[in-house]
Amino acid sequence: VDPTLDLFAEIERLKKEKNAVILAHLYQEPDIQDIADFIGDSLGLAQAAAKTDADMIVFAGVHFMAETAKILNPSKKVVIPDLKAGCSLSESCPPALFKKFREQHPDHVVISYINCSAGIKALTDVICTSSNAKAIVDSFPKDQKIIFAPDKNLGGWINRTTGRDMLLWNGACMVHEIFSLEKITKLKVRHPEAKVIAHPECEEPILRISDFVGSTTQLLAYVKNTEHQSFIVATEAGILHQMAKQAPSKTLIPAPPDNSCACNDCPHMKRNTLEKIYLCMKYEQPAIEMDEELRLQAKASLDRMMEISE
Ligand code: 13P
Ligand code: SF4
Repeated sequence: VDPTLDLFAEIERLKKEKNAVILAHLYQEPDIQDIADFIGDSLGLAQAAAKTDADMIVFAGVHFMAETAKILNPSKKVVIPDLKAGCSLSESCPPALFKKFREQHPDHVVISYINCSAGIKALTDVICTSSNAKAIVDSFPKDQKIIFAPDKNLGGWINRTTGRDMLLWNGACMVHEIFSLEKITKLKVRHPEAKVIAHPECEEPILRISDFVGSTTQLLAYVKNTEHQSFIVATEAGILHQMAKQAPSKTLIPAPPDNSCACNDCPHMKRNTLEKIYLCMKYEQPAIEMDEELRLQAKASLDRMMEISE
């Protein structure tokens, strides 16, 4: 791409020309968040994708999110800036292995976190996201046996907060596992007024010392709407842009990783750039395509989630 091109102006032009909408996750880089038509968490993005009347959905997020948009909107073109933008949670749960696991527990209902492939969604009874996971689990009787996949940290957090004993798949998010309990504890000593806020994909010790646990949208709302002034933020760094924008007077301290060479960025989310957004809109590829039978099987578990979270 010609480096003198005004990508912001070009993307705006392409939006109009192609009747396209840009949906961006809160972990996207600041420029992408700023050019997006809708920014949100996984649930908000899925709902926005289901409602849009645009002809083209440009999904600035990772593959499973764009795939979800396609499952909900088969007649629309869904493009993604980089097909390689995967997710460690989704990759931890291959459908063939999960099918065997499910068959070993035929009396269990399967609830899967939306961070999974269409193949896993097709083997799932109800999908959930981090913002509605508790409500989805609570919609089942207390004695219902449940398999929860693929995130053991989110599943463990729901088990602890609802008193359930769901059977957990052993998956985890590579970004949310890096935070250091010791360093966060030291930071709290230096900033006793700061509230620790964490995404439920974090490991149990971090969640136990957190003042608030929630999805990305819920974390953003907590920073914006509570009287607290200072926050230690244990989630992917992209969200800091939106927090700073929507709550400019608040102090945001990124939770430190265990290894000081590591950072809080998701390498998958950060594959997307403004330049790749422009290119995928211009050439209308890479586009998400999927087998119709798989799509319908995967859609059933998403539809159940949408019904419960309306
Ligand atoms: P939410 O935005 O739904 O909280 O999910 C976080 C995440 O890791 C998405 O990949
Ligand atoms: Fe997946 Fe974690 Fe990246 Fe979200 S932050 S896309 S869960 S690897």
